[in-house]
Amino acid sequence: MPTDKPTEEKLQKVLASIGLASRRMVENYILDERIIVNGEIAHIGQRVNRHEDELLFDGVPLRVRPDFVYYLLHKPLGVISTANDPQGRQTVVDLLPQKPRVYPVGRLDKDTEGLILVTNDGDLTYRLTHPSHGVEKEYLVKVQTKIARGGLRKLREGIELDDGLTSPARVSQLQDGVVRIVIHEGRNRQVRRMFEMIGHPVERLIRTRIGNLVDHALQSGQWRELTTMELLHFEVEQITE
Ligand code: URA
Repeated sequence: MPTDKPTEEKLQKVLASIGLASRRMVENYILDERIIVNGEIAHIGQRVNRHEDELLFDGVPLRVRPDFVYYLLHKPLGVISTANDPQGRQTVVDLLPQKPRVYPVGRLDKDTEGLILVTNDGDLTYRLTHPSHGVEKEYLVKVQTKIARGGLRKLREGIELDDGLTSPARVSQLQDGVVRIVIHEGRNRQVRRMFEMIGHPVERLIRTRIGNLVDHALQSGQWRELTTMELLHFEVEQITE
């Protein structure tokens, strides 16, 4: 008779159920010693408690806790990216399931659209919003007129804002007045202030990527959960930054 506690499940089953890979593939990962459970190399048939045990894949924590949720939301214009608004305006949290209680990771201005991550995983939020973790963020920026080469160069090399020089950015003008910019920092209204400084106030700002998270199919106001692989790659990116 198995003597396992009811909360314990086969490791292969847990890893497959969170979408890491098929059971067969997961077995290969275990045999290749790529899975660590509570600091020890895992073995086939091992039983784990998905609520309590720490599981690593290639050294990266696997978030197997079923009580954690990770939503990727395409924030519409006019919605506030805080968990609640004292003035009663619509917030990103209003667009998502009400339980469990979730919080946005970082901010998008009320007048900015696009991707925002919302979760109840405080540890991930803390790490992602910490200034030392500059995950790449990509924006599509619409300004009124074509930006001259000199302006683009300034954006690339760094712009002196009142809170200091911006880090180098990757910038390309896709068509006259439409620019894609990739930055690592997350200062308040940073993109708007950068464009303001080169004499091109932003007319429309859309975040199209956060690290490896992209979804061109998500329409304004729509959301979906992150896949395990997205979460895993996201974590890897944090570690290798
Ligand atoms: N930069 C801005 O200016 N606004 C945002 O919402 C995000 C980045």
